[in-house]
Amino acid sequence: MLNIIGLGPGNENYITKLGEKLIEQSEVLIGGKRNLETIKNFRGEKIEMASNLKEILEYINTNTHKQISVIASGDPFIYGVGRYLSKNIDNKNLNIVSGISSLQYIFSKIYVDMNDLYITSSHGKVPDFDYILSHKKVCMVTDSKIGPHEISNEIIKRGVKKIVVVGENLSYDNEQITIGSPEEILKIEKFDMNVVVILDEE
Ligand SMILES: C[S@@+](CC[C@H](N)C(=O)[O-])C[C@H]1O[C@@H](n2cnc3c(N)ncnc32)[C@H](O)[C@@H]1O
Repeated sequence: MLNIIGLGPGNENYITKLGEKLIEQSEVLIGGKRNLETIKNFRGEKIEMASNLKEILEYINTNTHKQISVIASGDPFIYGVGRYLSKNIDNKNLNIVSGISSLQYIFSKIYVDMNDLYITSSHGKVPDFDYILSHKKVCMVTDSKIGPHEISNEIIKRGVKKIVVVGENLSYDNEQITIGSPEEILKIEKFDMNVVVILDEE
């Protein structure tokens, strides 16, 4: 059985008890660099996962005798590795353990419910901003190409009234949450790893 475990936004206090127990019982942990670093006292083997997904899949398929857990940030099924692995591994052999997504985390910090939320990502694609900005409540996981500045510019270009929330390094000691108009967001020079919430002005 392969575990795919969501670690939450980053701070180890957000890992579920079940996730923690399964990690402890694992012989091999596979995950991104940041996620592997979160699990400090692991005695087994750690394998770094980046763009080497095919190799990782091959490793998993040829080492079924080992207790392997793939760890993913947030929730594995929100723009995470859960999608690729669940499409390529017989689901009967998968145990997926949800985690608290960075998206859920930011909404708890800004006291806004997630009802009717439109979830999207800028990872590796050109987002359709006309469609995205037609929603009242959006949360976007971002990458280095399209982040708070680009999103703010797209809002200004369309003349729509929106409030932008940028959540950086969520759950870590250097967490920063900025709330402002697109114009105010553009004044900030640089953002670290972030999610962006876009809300209709009330
Ligand atoms: C591949 S996606 C994974 C999302 C993850 N599955 C989740 O549910 O949070 C990676 C993106 O998630 C966002 N992210 C993940 N953890 C974060 C954190 N602690 N603070 C801010 N953004 C975070 C960033 O936009 C980052 O580029």
